[in-house]
Amino acid sequence: MAKRLLTFLALGLLLVFSCSEPQKQKSKEQKAVSSEEDLTTLAFKNRYIVGFSQCTFEDPWRINMNKEMEKEAGQHMELKLVIANGENRNAKQVADIENFLVMGVNILIVSPRESAPLTPVVEKAYSAGKPVIILDRKIDSNKYTIFIGASNLEIGREAGKYLAEKMGGKGNIVEIEGILGATPTQERSQGFHEIIDSYPGIKVVYKQPGDYKRSPALKVMENALSAYDRIDAVYAHNDEMMIGAYLAAKAAKREKGMLFVGIDGQKEAVDMIRQGLLSATFVYPNGAKEAILYALMIAQGKSVPKEVRLPTTRVTRDEALDYSGF
Ligand code: FRU
Repeated sequence: MAKRLLTFLALGLLLVFSCSEPQKQKSKEQKAVSSEEDLTTLAFKNRYIVGFSQCTFEDPWRINMNKEMEKEAGQHMELKLVIANGENRNAKQVADIENFLVMGVNILIVSPRESAPLTPVVEKAYSAGKPVIILDRKIDSNKYTIFIGASNLEIGREAGKYLAEKMGGKGNIVEIEGILGATPTQERSQGFHEIIDSYPGIKVVYKQPGDYKRSPALKVMENALSAYDRIDAVYAHNDEMMIGAYLAAKAAKREKGMLFVGIDGQKEAVDMIRQGLLSATFVYPNGAKEAILYALMIAQGKSVPKEVRLPTTRVTRDEALDYSGF
């Protein structure tokens, strides 16, 4: 009887230990995850760390891009995504990338604020053997693994064709540019002018940067409105700026009959297109999901193409009935 009792007790003790041991380990690991400096240690020992250097968290398009990237990364337990906020400053973004390299991330995803200031640090990472995915905006070099993005030249051309047709080949346009050193700004303008400049009756009378933000664009439009009595259309390099321009025109009671074209496919803009207040937007895909999928392929040692071109579509009032935007 005593012997049986002892065996029973021993078994019980064994059970308690075998249950509590992983428990202990788990709480140690959870502690490690919560502290940033442990990124390269215990918690992520068996995971592939993806460092995403995002140029800014300031606008809806970027916020949506982060959200979609987190969602996709969340489906792949072998990946750990870390996002750094470049705060719309080149120097901060360069420092974020340097920091990722010190941390020892396995792969970099970079959506550069401006091409020239970000080129050296990306070249340095790539030359040191780090895989680099360039997303949406380009750099001035081919020292990266893969570029993922839509064609901004094509979007510019399509915007030009749309406006030329709507304007019947004549009238005055205000062009509100994005950040000047960012490649989408240059390409959206170049493609647009390739088309528009061939119409002798159409003039871009005012062209100023609004930095991809609503309130600077509103100011640009206020200035344009006071400089020109006749403005027939606005071509804004993104939807935030198109909305800013519309608000300025509305405040001056000159929005009626004016055409407004933007880029991105943002929900607020699409709603206004549906209401007939704005004319069109060109959906600009952010490539977040694709970036994670290609990061996975790179992690698995598979070869990837140098460039992945994402599609774009035009949204006018008709398409806005089935498209809601982000
Ligand atoms: C260009 C762009 C825009 C977007 C903006 C936000 O790179 O992608 O389409 O609205 O950046 O920062």
